[in-house]
Amino acid sequence: MSTDSSDTSQAAGFHHVAYACRDIHENHRFYEDLIGLELVKTEVTPYGAGFFRHTFYDTGDGSCMAFFDLHGVGEADKDRTDISTGLGMPLWVNHIALKRNADQTAAIVESLHEAGHGTYTLEHGWCRSTYVTDPNGISLEFCVDTPGFEPDRQRALELLDAIPESTVKIV
Ligand SMILES: [Fe+2]
Repeated sequence: MSTDSSDTSQAAGFHHVAYACRDIHENHRFYEDLIGLELVKTEVTPYGAGFFRHTFYDTGDGSCMAFFDLHGVGEADKDRTDISTGLGMPLWVNHIALKRNADQTAAIVESLHEAGHGTYTLEHGWCRSTYVTDPNGISLEFCVDTPGFEPDRQRALELLDAIPESTVKIV
């Protein structure tokens, strides 16, 4: 990784996103063995009277999904890692989406099903999304562009205060 401050090639996009995990080993098996993200860094850090472990999994382009394994650093309940349902929201609200192509998604789904994880797929018109719930209670999406969307800033701004024109339900 470059330490040259003049290097702007990685100046955009996510570096990493980080979430708490319930069980670091179960989390590792899920993300590396089933999802195919390689563990590339682990930190172990004392913090107050406790400590935490911090793991980083490469999503494929150098950006990472990171996890905290917390031990007495102020967490109220180590097992409440479900970032949507734990806050009273539907499971699908706060979620993570990995960009994958159709073949990659099919291979991941096969691994997940062999390991006993259920998945479901939704056609959104511009993308096909397949979802699984990770061991932390977080919804993880594999998003295949079909063919993706064209950015439309003006329309996007207009819709900031819009309400649906129809009563068609998603679920
Ligand atoms: Fe999504």
